[in-house]
Amino acid sequence: MAISAPRSEGWSKLSIVLHWLIVLFIVVQFVDHEWMVDMWRATRRGAEIDFTTATWGWVHIVTGTLVLIAALLRLWDRYANGRPPYPAGEPNWALWLAKVTHVLIYAILILMPVTGLLAWNLMIGELAEIHELLWTPLLVLVGLHIAGSLVQHFYFKTDVLRRMLRPAQ
Ligand code: HEM
Ligand code: HEM
Repeated sequence: MAISAPRSEGWSKLSIVLHWLIVLFIVVQFVDHEWMVDMWRATRRGAEIDFTTATWGWVHIVTGTLVLIAALLRLWDRYANGRPPYPAGEPNWALWLAKVTHVLIYAILILMPVTGLLAWNLMIGELAEIHELLWTPLLVLVGLHIAGSLVQHFYFKTDVLRRMLRPAQ
């Protein structure tokens, strides 16, 4: 059964670990982003950077790069092995909303580190602005995403949230 229908029952352990690591990394970015802005501005001006700013600035760069790696790995796993089905009997609009939200979240999880890395390494101000502009949409989408999974769990009483916590056997 497991061989003929991979991923039909739930997410792989890898996919689940990567999901929650990405959540953790985004929380870290929420905490450290002001220092990154300070480090960026000081570097552009050629000004001195204090130890705290440099440390948190580099945490931002490393954590952001890890988001890119984790998102690409998760996408690879998803395409190689498939994903569990969306809950049956869901209205079309809800299914559509979930799918669009997922696509947009993946797009931002890739675009933010790419624009950040290019802006930082090539010192391109316009890319830094695009990087900055993507933050609010990410927060809005994640808010929608969390609300959606809570509605699935508490209102529709599906196993969507549970299967993101427990890998398929
Ligand atoms: C998904 C991963 C990432 C997220 C969520 C993220 C988030 C943020 C946020 C919220 C800001 C502050 C924007 C503002 O208020 O002005 C910021 C600034 C910045 N980030 Fe990231 N970042 C990520 C990855 C990276 C990476 C990998 C780099 C590589 C160097 C990077 C470089 C920068 C730079 C240079 C700024 C300053 C931009 C400016 O002030 O115009 N970020 N980032
Ligand atoms: C920074 C925060 C978060 C990000 C970036 C994020 C991102 C994602 C992504 C990209 C997917 C994959 C969808 C797919 O491959 O089809 C996903 C699935 C999922 N996420 Fe999140 N997520 C976040 C926070 C959360 C939180 C806090 C919860 C729980 C309250 C949650 C619950 C779920 C569930 C249940 C799924 C599986 C959906 C399904 O099986 O159809 N996520 N998330």
